[in-house]
Amino acid sequence: MAKAFLELIGIDKSYPGVQALTGVSLSVAPGEIVGLIGENGAGKSTLMKVLGGVVSPSSGSIRLDGQDHASLTVKEAIGAGIAFVHQELNLFDNLDVAANVFIGREPRMGGPLNLINRRRLRAAARPFLERVGCDFQPETSVAELSLAQRQQLEIAKALSLGARVVIMDEPTSSLTISETNRLLDVIRELKASGVSVIFISHRLNEVEQCADRVVVLRDGRVVGELDQASIRHDVMIRMMIGRDLRELYTPPAEPPGDGVLDLVAVRTSTYPEQSVSLSLKRGEILGLAGLIGAGRTELARAVFGVDRLLGGGIIMNGRSIVVASPRDAIDRGIYLVPEDRKRTGLILEESIASNISLPDLLSYAKLTLVSTRREKRNAELQCKALGVKTRDVATIVGALSGGNQQKVVLAKWLSMRPKVVIFDEPTRGVDVGAKTEIYKLMRALADKGVAILMISSDLEEVIGVSDRMAVMHEGAIAGILERDRFSEEAVMLLAVGHVTH
Ligand SMILES: Nc1ncnc2c1ncn2[C@@H]1O[C@H](COP(=O)(O)OP(=O)(O)OP(=O)(O)O)[C@@H](O)[C@H]1O
Ligand SMILES: [Mg+2]
Repeated sequence: MAKAFLELIGIDKSYPGVQALTGVSLSVAPGEIVGLIGENGAGKSTLMKVLGGVVSPSSGSIRLDGQDHASLTVKEAIGAGIAFVHQELNLFDNLDVAANVFIGREPRMGGPLNLINRRRLRAAARPFLERVGCDFQPETSVAELSLAQRQQLEIAKALSLGARVVIMDEPTSSLTISETNRLLDVIRELKASGVSVIFISHRLNEVEQCADRVVVLRDGRVVGELDQASIRHDVMIRMMIGRDLRELYTPPAEPPGDGVLDLVAVRTSTYPEQSVSLSLKRGEILGLAGLIGAGRTELARAVFGVDRLLGGGIIMNGRSIVVASPRDAIDRGIYLVPEDRKRTGLILEESIASNISLPDLLSYAKLTLVSTRREKRNAELQCKALGVKTRDVATIVGALSGGNQQKVVLAKWLSMRPKVVIFDEPTRGVDVGAKTEIYKLMRALADKGVAILMISSDLEEVIGVSDRMAVMHEGAIAGILERDRFSEEAVMLLAVGHVTH
């Protein structure tokens, strides 16, 4: 491997009350793919923000081509060829693809008006789009692109800016399996052309597939590095959490009981011509698998009263019920833990404690005064149970790491004594250690008699955790599998619409 052109040396970063990074060193050589892994709150994103010039380190230095800097500005980072592919992508929806690539650097016509030369702009964008295998055109409007395509566009833009290293912070967390594979191909192409990639992911099999070297962070320190030959799933897990992981599946305490919630020929607006019938049983974890876009989230939203049912009915404990709003659902003990924690789950400016008690506030709306002490005690209990990493529950949710935010969402719904809980992608962006905690929690809930529906695109997870599994394809149930018939192949066949008998 060529010599490193980029080195972070002894980086410290502290926030009030939190030491996010302690003496972290990391080097990157041209064309090298560095996997950066660690549990939620380990400091991965913070370290990358230091590199991207978004955050100034408290001490340490950044060595670029032999020159030391105490910190970088965003402009200096970009100038040095450091590019960030953000989780919240920075694109302009109202512009086309080419304009987004060259925003602020558009070729002009000259003359008194000096208008943008659209033809040259599009021609200039094309080679960068081709390099990352985009299947859309320079003149396509960004509003029409899928998330995966937007990500490709960000990478093309980074290349047009002369990127030498592309930082990807959990780039695959919202991608389908085939989109993920395509991204991994792009990463290999970047490598072949000498561009380096720093790849952060909780999905260790992806890291295993693409990284030349893995750096492991724990509690803000580098706890180890693995060269390519020694990158293995179990080794990475042990380094991240400092122990071995237990088997995913824990069987229920008792066999599942009767149906608590029966969906009878339910129809939603995404797939109006299809209908879904499904029975959620007491004490059972029912996995709902399928490809992204199969209609699982829409089904969950309809059951929770967010979207209107087009047809069919919902039966709870043998009686037909109407769920016209989330309020109705909550009154009956039906909860949805949504997948998009930023948009639907949390108020980032509020404290952990008040986020957790938010649904409580709904049900006690008549009370003018919320008991802050009770709120605090409940929040502390929940945070402890889920292992939310924070100094105290007065911390603003926005200051938590991504995975810890997800745990707060869970804590919020679990403090409500539910009868039915629908988890939509409950462990997206959550580290391996916390995943086990969340699975344990689901099992504990089920053992208390709660019926659980777990929507998950993570095959290892649905297979590992569910007692029974329903697989959706294009708005319909393609098949139901009992645990003894679980296999990746069986799930995938059903998910792509292969009919089995
Ligand atoms: N702006 C901030 N203010 C205060 N604390 C912060 C801030 N940003 C991060 N932290 C803290 O720094 C630590 C490291 O967070 P960071 O976001 O780097 O973790 P991470 O490894 O990216 O985790 P995840 O896998 O959950 O995304 C956490 O304890 C977090 O709460
Ligand atoms: Mg992060």
